[in-house]
Amino acid sequence: MIDLSLSGIEEWVNSQELADLAIEKNKLLHDGSGLGNGFLGWITLPEDAQEQVAPIQQITSQFKSKLNCVVVIGIGGSYLGTKSVLSALTSTLLPDNQNPEVLFAGHHLDQQYHKELLTYLENKNWGVVVISKSGTTTEPAVAFRFLRQAMDRQFGKNQAKDRILAITDQSKGALRGLADQEGFQSFVIPDNVGGRYSVLTPVGLVPIALAGIDIEALVAGGLSQMKNLGPETTFDENFAAQYASARNLLYQQGKTVEILANFKPALHDVAEWWKQLFGESEGKEHKGIYPASVDLTSDLHSMGQFIQEGNRNLFESALLIKESDSPLTLPKMEEDADQLNYLAGKPMEYINQQATEGTLLAHQDGGVPIIRITLERLDAFNLGELFYFFEKACGISGYLLGVNPFDQPGVEAYKKNMFALLGKPGFEKETETIRRRLK
Ligand code: PA5
Repeated sequence: MIDLSLSGIEEWVNSQELADLAIEKNKLLHDGSGLGNGFLGWITLPEDAQEQVAPIQQITSQFKSKLNCVVVIGIGGSYLGTKSVLSALTSTLLPDNQNPEVLFAGHHLDQQYHKELLTYLENKNWGVVVISKSGTTTEPAVAFRFLRQAMDRQFGKNQAKDRILAITDQSKGALRGLADQEGFQSFVIPDNVGGRYSVLTPVGLVPIALAGIDIEALVAGGLSQMKNLGPETTFDENFAAQYASARNLLYQQGKTVEILANFKPALHDVAEWWKQLFGESEGKEHKGIYPASVDLTSDLHSMGQFIQEGNRNLFESALLIKESDSPLTLPKMEEDADQLNYLAGKPMEYINQQATEGTLLAHQDGGVPIIRITLERLDAFNLGELFYFFEKACGISGYLLGVNPFDQPGVEAYKKNMFALLGKPGFEKETETIRRRLK
């Protein structure tokens, strides 16, 4: 269950107008008559995904039974959801606990990383899950080409094709063509779900299931929020509408940066997923809140000064977890040279909680409004809830801002320049222009 509370945002509590508007935008999402209405498939996705759970579990358990390592290729919405769930629910310090080990590729164009990956894979019994909705994105396509070549060499072309799962559009794009031509087993990404809203489609469910995480619980979490945040839910009970309207009010008051703060490294990549969701959905037409994130308490020793006393254009959303696992208590030491005996016997979690309370209070006193988003515990069900909650809030928030939260026209600008510079066929005119500009 998700809980939401706000401090330092008094006007929000009294604004009936803002509440009505947020509820109206939620209804607009369900009516399907707002901007970007061709991409609203995520609204009912948890319901649709229920049917996919069993077949995905069956195929992935067969697939992983023959492997000890899987490389997941994808970028943006085809990568961040999976990365966030794996970071949250699997151990990074004890990677041997992962079976199969899951690695990522195609989320940047760095040669060194991909060279190291190819070397690392030489002694592994590995497979690939390649994910691209458009099927034409350069970063994953480049990585896939390198990995396919390595796989063909290591296992032979015939065996290699059975080590590949492709997740892409039903009929469009180069990856679909390749999958059909080579006979890769494939899954379909629905047309009406955009990349950053796709974690509960095969884009997220397949690699997450491969990592041994309970996708049934993940989908059930999404479903529970889908029911909680429906068109009939009142503002008082609709946390997504509350979060969206609070952000909107803060934005109108000049708070143009939202910092998602966590006090648990396992949540780092949830913030990366969140940044893409809100950044790509709202940052357009020269509008939008810039989504930033901090890992606390670590970043209190780097960004803490700015949050406390820098430009007051910030608000902070703290992502908190209520329940923890068995306590790690601080030992007592005979000689108290480090002067920590006053904490002896206290769980580390307790120390972190006091740090959390102290930090949020200090930030609020420094003029940073605080929104607390609390999960009951860190597990697949709660993450499913959180994904749906943020997606719903993002849809409402984008509509409150007056933008289309489901497109990303700005992402094309770098691609156009890159293709022109790389001399991609069809970009001859742009190549000439850009080379002249760069002389
Ligand atoms: O949210 C989005 O639509 C994007 O971030 C895409 O997920 C990203 O660009 C990757 O696209 P594709 O899955 O087509 O390779």
